[in-house]
Amino acid sequence: MTTYSLRKGTPDKTRADLVVIGVSQNPDAKGANALEVCPGGEAIAAAYGRKFAPLLSSMGFSGKTGEVLRVPTGGTVKSAQLLVIGMGPRDGLTTEKVRRAAGVAARNVGNAASVALALPAIDAAHVRAVADGFLSGGYRYTAYKSGASKEPVAEVAILSDAARQKDSIDALATAQAVAATMSAARDWVNAPANDFAPLDFAAAITEFGKQRKGSGVKIKVYDVDELTELNCGGILGVGMGSENPPCMVKLTWQPDKPRGHIALVGKGITYDSGGLTIKPGGSMATMKFDMAGAAAVVAAIYAIAELKLPVAVTAWAPMAENMISGDAMRPGDVLTMHSGKTVEVLNTDAEGRLVLADALALAAEEKPDAIINIATLTGPCIVALGEKIAGLFGTDDAVAAVTTAAEVSGELVWRLPIPEATREQVRTESKVADLLQHNWVRWGSALYAAAFLQEFVDGLPFAHLDIAGPAYNSGGPWGHVPSGGTGFGIATMVQYVAAVAQNSR
Ligand code: BES
Ligand code: ZN
Ligand code: MN
Repeated sequence: MTTYSLRKGTPDKTRADLVVIGVSQNPDAKGANALEVCPGGEAIAAAYGRKFAPLLSSMGFSGKTGEVLRVPTGGTVKSAQLLVIGMGPRDGLTTEKVRRAAGVAARNVGNAASVALALPAIDAAHVRAVADGFLSGGYRYTAYKSGASKEPVAEVAILSDAARQKDSIDALATAQAVAATMSAARDWVNAPANDFAPLDFAAAITEFGKQRKGSGVKIKVYDVDELTELNCGGILGVGMGSENPPCMVKLTWQPDKPRGHIALVGKGITYDSGGLTIKPGGSMATMKFDMAGAAAVVAAIYAIAELKLPVAVTAWAPMAENMISGDAMRPGDVLTMHSGKTVEVLNTDAEGRLVLADALALAAEEKPDAIINIATLTGPCIVALGEKIAGLFGTDDAVAAVTTAAEVSGELVWRLPIPEATREQVRTESKVADLLQHNWVRWGSALYAAAFLQEFVDGLPFAHLDIAGPAYNSGGPWGHVPSGGTGFGIATMVQYVAAVAQNSR
């Protein structure tokens, strides 16, 4: 366990194994003259005096984003080692830059048992960014690596002149609550599908709940019989082809005198082979991650409960494995959904919308103030926005609130439309059923998927995050984002609910 503290900043006099500062580049200068210490680190640079920038420069440090340099201090300051993080061009120390730098720092602490972070924690928002970045950036998935255990840092001190302000103290608490549940969500996403079928996932959530006894979150797992009872034709249809039965987890956070009720719905496909509309081999390789939406809503509700946010929240995680067998769902099949609507399936690889449809309809029956859906829903959304930006769809009110929340959390989202004409296609283009699941038109199919989902929310305020790109990092770590499951969306959903609490005071 790592203990975090927030202290008034005197980094030169702080005794730690390692002290971390940021250094940025002045684009109008060259070599050592271009290096400028960032706020928070001034006292370190002052202790070295005029030789500081030339020293860094002589070791090949240029200050570009993500660059790291570790130097023994030889007694110049109280800490034994100095870790310098490149912050790139000096224009504006956004919270996002700081979050990324702190993430880079977390991966480069070496053997240090105690670390002092003298990064730009100039106000509460930047304290949050330093804490988020360091907590999140140090994550590694080692469950299946022999002998990979590494002692975590024992003590981390965040140095900030704003340390004694209440909003800074709250910012650290929020960062810790989110990081702890995010780490569990990443573990679930990274877990290989052979050890993580729907019932394993549900059991992992139940176990997580037990470890957090007293969290106040109630858990209910629906098995196949109960899903049958509820006419959840979408979840059952998708799960039919697998040896591993589908299920659904519902979590409830019900504070006293709630200032609203929000439903969170997340796609929980523990493996997506595509089903009979099978994926090409290469596209299947990362499909254990197709439950990242479900992991995110579970993590979010536990963080919300930990922070005791005064808003009622319900999280729905429909789970299935999309596989092939003699029992598998066929293109051309018609499913009857929980809402009573019938759906003609034309592409078994568009399975996410089918499991979500049932969960959305169940969520809508409770008449929450808004429904937030999160899903690794469509490859086409990655085509539209790239791997780092989530597509955001829905009604104006909910979309605006999620956008604002994402600005605070630092997660990148971009609105895409649900055109009325597309909704019309969903409702009219099946010759046999009420709704058409997929129309095989190549263009705009992330929009079609969103339009399909909206058929099940009963006209409620609705936002849908398509996280097919940002949920999983198949490359190397960058900034505060590790390889593999990223935990994308959790911080935004927690912030969204925090804002609901704030705005209805
Ligand atoms: N889980 C995939 C979405 C996905 C694809 C995420 C690639 C990340 C990378 C989803 O179930 C799916 O297969 N979607 C289809 C949508 C299509 C039928 C409109 C896809 O991406 O081909
Ligand atoms: Zn999928
Ligand atoms: Mn699919």
